[in-house]
Amino acid sequence: MSKTIAILTGGGDCPGLNAVIRGVVRAASRRDWRVLGIRDGFDGLVGEPRWIELDKKAVSGILQRGGTILGTSNRGNPFSYPVEQDGKTELRDVSQTVVDNFRKIGADALIAVGGDGTLKIARQLGRLGIPVVGVPKTIDNDLKGTDVTFGYNTAVGIVTEALDRLHSTAESHHRVMVVEVMGRDAGWIALESGIAGSADVILIPEIPYRIDKVCAAIRRRSESGHLFSIVVVAEGATSASGDKVVQLTADQNLGVERLGGVGHQVAREIETCLDLDMELRTVVLGHVQRGGTPSPFDRILSSRFGVKAVQLIEQGGFGKMVALHGRKIAFVDINDAVGQLNLIDPEGELVEAAEELGIMVGR
Ligand code: F6P
Repeated sequence: MSKTIAILTGGGDCPGLNAVIRGVVRAASRRDWRVLGIRDGFDGLVGEPRWIELDKKAVSGILQRGGTILGTSNRGNPFSYPVEQDGKTELRDVSQTVVDNFRKIGADALIAVGGDGTLKIARQLGRLGIPVVGVPKTIDNDLKGTDVTFGYNTAVGIVTEALDRLHSTAESHHRVMVVEVMGRDAGWIALESGIAGSADVILIPEIPYRIDKVCAAIRRRSESGHLFSIVVVAEGATSASGDKVVQLTADQNLGVERLGGVGHQVAREIETCLDLDMELRTVVLGHVQRGGTPSPFDRILSSRFGVKAVQLIEQGGFGKMVALHGRKIAFVDINDAVGQLNLIDPEGELVEAAEELGIMVGR
């Protein structure tokens, strides 16, 4: 039976989104299904619906492109949507408009490509009667239910390359280079790229750091003749006695806390406790980690996720999400993927490997 499926990309963008869209469209067109691409995440279903027809021509040449051809938003939660009235912004529940618009455009199913926030909204919309399936995305790799999210592999590659480049300049100038990377709640990017890029110190949200231990590690390195150090800090890392460093609180930023600045904080702290004549520099990699072309691993994973999302709809597997388990694509309940984050086990093998390699993790 012919179907019309809608697809949207929500939350922060991530390399591989276009590969998912292309996979969905190619698999759908083999079934003679129609695909509608919703603009700017759930925003495209608030107000007058905004969408584009996605046929094979529309997705030609996008496999290797970063970002999302549909646009995205990490502000457009229809259950708590910013609405302007009398010069003031209020958060309102506009979810019924989304349901009405979904019906109005004639869609039979919705593919929501996103992280924890987007998939939570998808789950709620499922309860309101929209048949949804999920595709897990985030460079942070903090989503449960899948071994890995797409976008993460690319981000680790970008950070690793940056660390390689920073090594030569740090070494030449005998400096401590503090590198802030993304990772709000989970330190996967920091830990894995830190291992791949031979960092000396890696600070992650899962292990509150002690700055005296960080300084002692840099001093030990210097005494053994290594006159430079690379310190990788996840943006959500906190000191044992402190809180996350935020640029904007959730109240100041329509419900979304904006992190950033911990790299500068760590550099200042090192300056005060390091009794060596070493200069420090801070590098914030920021959105560079999310931009540009996906790695081959992410192109393949995203393409497989897109194809499997179509198969999931064909099987009527609504309320489920595609996932990678080992080397196979599996289907899991969206419920099992959201709410709880996939964090690094401080006592797990990966942290142990880092420590065995001589990397200091802040404790
Ligand atoms: O969730 C992915 C992520 O890259 C986080 O690590 C980061 O805090 C956030 O997105 C930043 O998003 P933006 O600046 O686009 O709001």
